[in-house]
Amino acid sequence: MSGPAVILVGPMGVGKTTVGRILAERLGTTCRDTDDDVAERAGKPVAEIFIDEGEEHFRALEREAVQAAVTGHDGVLSLGGGAVLAAETRLLLAGRPVVLLEMGVAEAVRRTGLDAPRPLLTVNPRQQWRQLMEERRPLYAEVARAVVSTEDRTPDEVADEILDVLELKKS
Ligand code: S3P
Repeated sequence: MSGPAVILVGPMGVGKTTVGRILAERLGTTCRDTDDDVAERAGKPVAEIFIDEGEEHFRALEREAVQAAVTGHDGVLSLGGGAVLAAETRLLLAGRPVVLLEMGVAEAVRRTGLDAPRPLLTVNPRQQWRQLMEERRPLYAEVARAVVSTEDRTPDEVADEILDVLELKKS
């Protein structure tokens, strides 16, 4: 099956973009992020799409971006945290080298509470994150070939483990 060498899924702030960049470098390939693809196509940041057009519109753009990237990109691909909500996306991911990056709620709040704008975690981040994860955990599990924890690990160490579990060559 042609397509990305690695596809990273998992909640916002878990480090998909950072780890994706490191992995791409190790594999001598490029990395792509569906949030960036959506922002580029819309001509504005994801947070603004949520405000101006709403989540549903964002999800439609995201489904198209995921479809294009999964079928047209052969490097490392990071998906937005909510991409797995779409049944058609989960179907598209079946049988592919999908890795779920994980962390606990305390770590999630530390990483997402105060930094870049995240439209889904504006009020009471801890409770919102728990709720999102309850809804999404089974969806992540459905698509993931492997699960890698990011707790107490540097992005480099996370990248190493991903290469190990997918049995990809390290450089
Ligand atoms: C979202 C995660 C974000 C972005 C949007 C919605 C989500 O991506 O797609 O804010 O529903 O979890 P990251 O996971 O890359 O932060």
